[in-house]
Amino acid sequence: SSALAPQALRADLLDFTAPPSWGSPTLQGVRFRPDHWLLVGADGRIQGAEPAATFTPGPDWQQHDHRGHLLMPGFIDTHVHAPQLDVIASWGATLLDWLNTYTFPAEQRYADPAVAAEGAARFLDALLAHGTTAAVVFPTVHRASAEALFEAASQRGMRLITGKVLMNRHAPEGLRDDVDGARADCEALIQRWHGQGRNAYAVTVRFAVTSTPEQLAMAGELGRHHPGLYMQTHVAENRDEVAWVARLFPEARSYLDVYHRAGLLHERAVLAHGIWLDAQDRALLRDTGAHIAHSPSSNLFLGSGLFDWQAAVDSGHGVSIASDVGGGTSLSLTRTLAEAYKVQALRGTTLSAWTLLHAATRGAAEALGLSREIGHLDPGATADLAVWRWAEGPVGHHRDAVATGAVPGLAAQPLHARVFAWLTLADERQLAATYVAGRRRAGRGGGG
Ligand code: GUN
Ligand code: ZN
Repeated sequence: SSALAPQALRADLLDFTAPPSWGSPTLQGVRFRPDHWLLVGADGRIQGAEPAATFTPGPDWQQHDHRGHLLMPGFIDTHVHAPQLDVIASWGATLLDWLNTYTFPAEQRYADPAVAAEGAARFLDALLAHGTTAAVVFPTVHRASAEALFEAASQRGMRLITGKVLMNRHAPEGLRDDVDGARADCEALIQRWHGQGRNAYAVTVRFAVTSTPEQLAMAGELGRHHPGLYMQTHVAENRDEVAWVARLFPEARSYLDVYHRAGLLHERAVLAHGIWLDAQDRALLRDTGAHIAHSPSSNLFLGSGLFDWQAAVDSGHGVSIASDVGGGTSLSLTRTLAEAYKVQALRGTTLSAWTLLHAATRGAAEALGLSREIGHLDPGATADLAVWRWAEGPVGHHRDAVATGAVPGLAAQPLHARVFAWLTLADERQLAATYVAGRRRAGRGGGG
């Protein structure tokens, strides 16, 4: 691809310099720079920002005039299944029957490398169209499905973490591997892709149910032999699932302990759901540095339960935000954050827009050990960005006008109120543009 000219993007810049204060809309950690130029070097990295009132980019800068729009770091979706775009919004099931009825049959198609390649391209383009620039992704058990995602992400310059799914039992024909074949596939994929460009490999255990103890041990060995690998899996999502794991692993103290015994919990371990955990489990997450990818859309849709974010904060383990499509019903992380707000409302906890947006940007980057590269607009960060319209449609425009004080008789509201209304109402239709390493990769309208 050709060399990139330096880019200057004009917009209202919003990001975080530190974790916001829990449960309060104060501006701690929040950096809002209305009507600024964000300056991105030819290397695709952020150089800085200057107020548009007093600064004009020179003639060598390619200008993208998104004035009046909201520019944030691209979202980071820490748990999502690429092949499950085929089953998103499937009716009438809870986790275990949903897997058997919809998900496993759909995943069988990905044995065909052509299906996997087409699916990977469709999926990553969809992420970009939703303002998501980095993701931790499940493909299928097939080596070609992981290969296809790495290829497609490389073509788009995206930060991607994925790995072939490990599952050698309790799954239908065509979706099972075996310990030795799986090890060989993982080794080959790690050699080829881990640390290549913006790709990283994740040891990908589907869940404790679908791997034998021997396969879990093999997965743990992979992580010890190759520094810097991630680990992704599901934990304590659904009560029937938890009971099944207890029967399969009677020696383990808890579902989470199954993974701990296999050496799978560490600082780069991402565990989806974590609804049915106890205090010892939460302490184990904290002590190992593993974190929970909270998936509220999926947890509601599959009737799995209400994640206890307050308990996570109290025990000191990390939480990021995930769409978990196709259990989740949207790739939009604004929609997902709005669901997270409602789930905590049911639990008696009021989340701020800052806590929510931080979890989908800088917080996720920190949980993944990637905060030098993504999740914020600091100089040196890779320019993975999403530009959003503040409002869409008559209701959205009116609500935003109320927030900005443009409606006579109503006082302008604090920034938090405006951003909260935006995130509660917005979805991908409000995306103006997505940039990956300073290159425009998606979006309509909004100039540039
Ligand atoms: N547990 C094991 N596999 C899956 C999956 O594909 N989706 C969800 N939500 N939970 C799982
Ligand atoms: Zn999942």
